[in-house]
Order: sequence, then C-alpha cells, then structure tokens
Amino acid sequence: SKGPYAHYMLKEVDEQPSVMRRISKNYIREDGSINVDPEMLKEINKADRLYIVAAGTSYHAGLVGKNIFETLADVPVDVELGSEFGYHMPKLSQHPFFIFLSQSGETADSRQVLVKINEMNLPSLTMTNVANSTLSRESNYTMELLAGPEIAVASTKSYTSQIAVEAVLAKALGELKGVQAAKDLDLKEQLAIAANGIQTIVDEKDYIKQLSADYLDGQDHAFYIGRGIDYALSLEAALKLKEISYIHAEGFAAGELKHGTIALIEKGTPVFAYINDGVGASHTRGNIQEVEARGAHVLVIANEKYAKPGDQIIIPEIDEMISPIVSVVPAQLFSYYASLARGNDVDKPRNLAKSVTVE
Ligand code: F6R
Repeated sequence: SKGPYAHYMLKEVDEQPSVMRRISKNYIREDGSINVDPEMLKEINKADRLYIVAAGTSYHAGLVGKNIFETLADVPVDVELGSEFGYHMPKLSQHPFFIFLSQSGETADSRQVLVKINEMNLPSLTMTNVANSTLSRESNYTMELLAGPEIAVASTKSYTSQIAVEAVLAKALGELKGVQAAKDLDLKEQLAIAANGIQTIVDEKDYIKQLSADYLDGQDHAFYIGRGIDYALSLEAALKLKEISYIHAEGFAAGELKHGTIALIEKGTPVFAYINDGVGASHTRGNIQEVEARGAHVLVIANEKYAKPGDQIIIPEIDEMISPIVSVVPAQLFSYYASLARGNDVDKPRNLAKSVTVE
C-alpha cells in the first residue's frame, strides 16, 4: 500500500536509503567480503567481454555499470539496447558473458536477445527485481535487486539498486582477479554513504519542489548535461522528466552542446548541469558559462568536492563511480513535482505500461 503517500513514486523514492542498506546487508558480509555465487563468478571470470543488455531506465543503469565493471573488474563492457542488439548483433568477442538488467524480468526486447544467446549456448546472468521472472528463469544465473515491489511506472529504486548490485558483482569479480581498485573500494561504507546521501536529498523535498517550480513551470523543453558518469546520469534524468511530466527533455554530453544542440538554447531555457565527475568538472563549468551567455536558466547539481558558491544542489561526497545512486534523486523529485504541477497521473503516465512484454 501507499501508506501516507499520495503516490507510489514518492514512496519508492523515499525507500531508496533502506534499499541500499538491504543490498549491503544481503551481499556484503561483516568482514567486507562479497557474498555472491562463486560458481557464477568463476564463469564470468572466463569472459573477455561483458555485454549488458537492457531497455529504458535499466539501460541507463547499464551505462553507469560499464564504468564500474571496467574500473573494478578490469574487463571491457558493451551496453546494448535489447531492441537493437537482438536484430543487429555485432561481431561478438570470443568469450562473451551476458548480463540482463531488468526490473520486471519480463521485458520482451531483452528476452528476445536471451533466446538468441541461449541458442548460441552463451552464458548469462539476470539482475532483476522479480525472482522467478522469465529472464531470471531463462538465464544461467540470477542476482536479485532486492528493491521490493516497484509499482509506479517510472523506475526509481530499481535504477539505484541496479547500480548498487552491479558494484557488488564488479567488486567480487575484481577481487577474484586481484584488481587493486576492487580491493581498495570499501563498498559497505560506500553504500552506507549512498543511503545517507539519498536521505539528505529526500529530506529537502520542499526546497526541491520550489526549484522544480522555479525552473520548470511553463516550460516545454529542458536539458540535462554532464560528462563521464554525469552524462550517463543525464540520460536517465531526462527520461524521468519526459515520461511523467511530458516536458520534452534531453540528456547531453556537455561537450556535445556546441556541436549542434546549443542552437536550441534561448532566454529562460532550463539547463540542469551535473558536476560529480572530477575529470569533467572544469570543462562542464565552461559549458555552463556558454549556455548562460545565451540566456539559459542553469541549475547546478554538484558533488561537495567540486561545488562552487551559488550551486543549487550539493551532493554529499561519495565514490564517483556510484555517485548516480545519489545524484539521480533530485532529478526523480524534479520530475515528480513537475508532473504533479501539471495535473498528470504521476504513477500511471499516459501511453506507458509498467512492464513492456511486446517487442
Ligand atoms: C522508465 C521505465 C522503463 C523501464 C524499461 C525496462 O522509468 O520504467 O524505461 O526501465 O521498460 O523495464 P525493465 O527494467 O522491467 O526491463
């Protein structure tokens, strides 16, 4: 039930700190070692490349995961849309391993890929919120997201739990391979930081609601920009805004603006800029100046480490790799309040179904 909440979406956004704690408790032992199926790890360790297959928000979680696996487990990763990959399969590596990301475990676009790779006898794992779902049953291994039922059509806690579970697996694999970055990462501590960081944001709802009104009331278009990890995040932030507020939103790699998109910037155009990626931070600051010079109404969401006076939202310090777990939350709330302000059906946006079981 929704309990005291007006909408499932808000309830599910608020549950994210406890979901992070649950993932930590279930997958990380007291001594910090990772608790996952050793058979599965051995199998993944044979792979020369991981292929993450997903759709929508889960695909965006995969884009965040690519960086996590490449850093912690030192293995190359491709992230693929099920709807494209199944029918236009690229030349695969010699020893591929497939990871299906799916909240529902029922997404037909992803399943048709799984059917094909099963015919090819290639190994796979499904990360899903629904144990015993079709994708879970048909792949070799399953890791549960442990997010609890997600009822609102817009994915929130399944995105953040997918990133956390990807980090769990990447650390386990990296430790098996002796990768220093994996040994150095205290994931138990980082997930606790993530839980507290999310809590800090959800405790600021009145402020975020006000920002949402200031930046989005009466607007038909909005942009999210960022670099590196913030680019992946911008795609998800824009999708959240589109699907429930119906505001046309795009996520862009900040450096790509000048290659075309900046032509769309007018006086008052809302631009949400993410600065959690240390390498990209100063360059994104430059892009902010460029759009401001053309009249954009810029809102900055910056990590404490890179924040400057005047930034509207500060994200508590967290390992950059998993920072989208926290920095996505303001975007979830912006879209919630924008949807509410427009009188939309927040939990059941038009034209959408919770689980897409047709190709
Ligand atoms: C967005 C959303 C969709 C799903 C997509 C994949 O908020 O809910 O984009 O993420 O349809 O669904 P799953 O994860 O169930 O495979």
